[in-house]
Amino acid sequence: MGIKANHINKSYGEHQVLNDVSFGCDRGDTLVLLGPSGAGKSSLIRVLNLLESASSGSLTIAGKSFDFSQPISDSVGLALRKHVGMVFQQYHLWPHMTVLENLIEAPVKVTGISKAQAKEQALIILKQLQLGDKANAWPLQLSGGQQQRVAIARALMMKPDVLLFDEPTAALDPEITSQVVNIIKQLSQTGITQVVVTHEVEFAKKIASHVLYLEQGKVVEFGDKTVFEHPQTKQFAQYLTH
Ligand SMILES: Nc1ncnc2c1ncn2[C@@H]1O[C@H](COP(=O)(O)OP(=O)(O)O)[C@@H](O)[C@H]1O
Ligand SMILES: [Mg+2]
Repeated sequence: MGIKANHINKSYGEHQVLNDVSFGCDRGDTLVLLGPSGAGKSSLIRVLNLLESASSGSLTIAGKSFDFSQPISDSVGLALRKHVGMVFQQYHLWPHMTVLENLIEAPVKVTGISKAQAKEQALIILKQLQLGDKANAWPLQLSGGQQQRVAIARALMMKPDVLLFDEPTAALDPEITSQVVNIIKQLSQTGITQVVVTHEVEFAKKIASHVLYLEQGKVVEFGDKTVFEHPQTKQFAQYLTH
């Protein structure tokens, strides 16, 4: 169960930010989205979980298909986001809740599992992410890297089929970035499909199974990770040099 995007167009007013974007990847793939600032990476990733709609095109993700030429209701987006999680650059943890409370909030409210069950699951996930001793900490007592891992843990509580990351390492130092690399690699072993926006090429090389390179809303290069060594386009080759 991977992702298939077909001819996606998206505009803000007159400004077309996605231009005929098509790509596909399989279950368990880690697709890295690269491109200069303003290329449309965040716009694309937000279309993938219907946080934003596109003007035309179609999308299949987490076993569901959407045709953007028809209006898509908010409830359809909400339902999809139970299966397609997102981790943001800014962690968006609730500061008035402990780590454990942050983790169990959505599953208890949205999926209706009991608090006890959710806590049990949360403790397992926290342990996997080396946060077993932080369950009762407040977000502001944690380092940036720990907060980012809590945000990943919180997304995993929903047992997503697909996990989207928008610049997950932008605010992190290199040691913490390598922890995020390890987490993404571990998750790919479990069959989760991941899409990761980044502008850090070294980070991208460590995690990618596939690469999509965008410029001005258009797909310039798409391929498996071998394109890092053998870029097919001049533009991507040039991007890799800086
Ligand atoms: N909500 C918005 N309204 C209008 N323009 C937007 C909005 N969000 C993004 N844009 C514009 O769309 C283009 C692509 O932005 P974005 O997807 O954030 O690029 P990236 O993540 O690659 O830096 C940019 O020119 C940006 O200014
Ligand atoms: Mg962005």
